[in-house]
Amino acid sequence: MPKKTTPKFKEAPEDNNIDSILRPTDWEDYIGQESVKRNLGIILEAAKKRNETADHLLFYGQAGLGKTTLANLVAKEMAMPIKITTGPAIEKMGDLAAILSNLEPNNILFVDEIHRLNRAVEEVLYPAMESRKLHIVIGKGAGARTLSIDLPPFTLIGATTRAHMLSEPLRSRFGAIFRLDYYNNKDIERILARSAKILGIKITPDAIEILARASRFTPRVANRLLKRTRDYAEVHNLKEITRDVAIKVLEVLEIDSMGLEFHDRLILQTLINKFGGGPVGLKTISASLNEDEDIIENVYEPYLMKLGFIRRTPSGRVAEPLAFKHLSIKSEEGLF
Ligand code: ADE
Repeated sequence: MPKKTTPKFKEAPEDNNIDSILRPTDWEDYIGQESVKRNLGIILEAAKKRNETADHLLFYGQAGLGKTTLANLVAKEMAMPIKITTGPAIEKMGDLAAILSNLEPNNILFVDEIHRLNRAVEEVLYPAMESRKLHIVIGKGAGARTLSIDLPPFTLIGATTRAHMLSEPLRSRFGAIFRLDYYNNKDIERILARSAKILGIKITPDAIEILARASRFTPRVANRLLKRTRDYAEVHNLKEITRDVAIKVLEVLEIDSMGLEFHDRLILQTLINKFGGGPVGLKTISASLNEDEDIIENVYEPYLMKLGFIRRTPSGRVAEPLAFKHLSIKSEEGLF
């Protein structure tokens, strides 16, 4: 038998930091993502009825949209412990072998940033996901042999912000794939109201509206803004967060009314001021800003596109009239 090594995962967090206090632990408290909740509900209900583990699940979407929260809710629904790890933490085949061979029957294994698993590790995962077999190569060269170990039933939940970076063999081994979308403003307002209640913060509806609009349609950002606002109120001995307080906090944080930060504005300004609104290629924007193409494409642009500020075209990125308007720049056609 191979020696059992300590697996690289942490148990579900029991710490009482604010983020975990705000994380919903019941489906009723999980606001938005209605279609994901509905379809996931059917999968879990059916698995429970059959007394089986649920299929392997993949959640993808921008950071902060609730992938980890969903994974925890799945574990709770299935009344099973969740083991949490991340793609980059599993460096070698042996790391994954240690994790898998330590699973108890029906455990949920959550692998965040699963797109960052390396190929060799991924290949250990395929038979584990498909037929619950762990193949371990022992020794090297001519004397090497493969040991096959049966694994208990388990559900792998993968989460990624970069679904396109997952290899096809890995993607195809998930029984269901869910895309988490940006939230709408009303849902972000509900999330903020819930968080304010939990944290005992007095906040007016118009302050919530202002924070929601600057939250990039993302619960994590919303809760972060609420916490910063709470700090501001605390320091200034304010009993209630009003519209004016919310506006002041955004100003201090250099976040504009639509949630744009320095880098977002820089991208728009570059596109508009340097390149006449485009079209301009990603490589050119990247070189001009000295910023990684991947970051521009996968971190900044999705939100700018969601706002209708930029558009991707075959000949490059184009700034939309709304972007000119937001930055109060007259476009060539004199639209504004
Ligand atoms: N906090 C983070 N995501 C949430 C959600 N979907 N509903 C309520 N609170 C949240």
